[in-house]
Amino acid sequence: MIPTPDLSHLTREDYEHVYEPAEDTFILLDALEQDAEELRSISPLVCLEIGSGSGCVSSFVGSILGDSAALYLATDINPNACKCTQRTGRQNKIPVEPITASLVGPLLPRLRHSVDILLFNPPYVPTFSSEADDAQQDADIAGAWAGGSDGMEVTDILLEEVEAYGVRPQDLLSPKGRFYLVAVKQNDLSNICKRMLLKHKLKGEVVLQRRAGREHLFVLRFTR
Ligand SMILES: C[S@@+](CC[C@H](N)C(=O)[O-])C[C@H]1O[C@@H](n2cnc3c(N)ncnc32)[C@H](O)[C@@H]1O
Repeated sequence: MIPTPDLSHLTREDYEHVYEPAEDTFILLDALEQDAEELRSISPLVCLEIGSGSGCVSSFVGSILGDSAALYLATDINPNACKCTQRTGRQNKIPVEPITASLVGPLLPRLRHSVDILLFNPPYVPTFSSEADDAQQDADIAGAWAGGSDGMEVTDILLEEVEAYGVRPQDLLSPKGRFYLVAVKQNDLSNICKRMLLKHKLKGEVVLQRRAGREHLFVLRFTR
């Protein structure tokens, strides 16, 4: 069993501004642990986590692959999250490099077809669009959960809406790349998978699901 990263350096004050790992984080860790052998076998060189929050997930991937095995990049719109991600990397001896940016931001086109492991546990909670817009502007704790209509407004930007900027999973993924996305039932998983296949030729499957209180959580994995 791969231990959950040490987060003892993060304080209550940090979690006032940065998402504290919860069931959605842990289901993603479990899905990654389930795939650990396969992930090692593709010898990933570049891992990118979008919305890294505390840095728990990126550090966990680092402990699956080894600290010097890959480049661990992370983005978050919330600058406090980027600081926590860096501290969590250090605490767990994984050199995670966080960048304060929306989605993939300035990393494209440098990362085109280069990302072997792409991870996103997005703000997936259905809210009014205005709430999601405000949360994206404020780049604080509400940005961790406010997902707008169907909880998909932020995820959709990554999946398709900003084609002009080339921020699409299939532009990012290397030929052997994998994209792990956390979702809840209200996000309409079959629609996500259908769109990803039709528009981007990425095959999606549910690799893990569980109920956590009122949420029905899923981890989707997309591959070429
Ligand atoms: C549900 S939290 C997940 C945090 C962490 N990955 C985890 O699993 O515990 C969502 C994260 O996405 C970040 N986020 C929201 N919108 C974003 C955007 N447009 N670009 C990058 N990060 C974003 C939030 O600040 C938050 O840290």
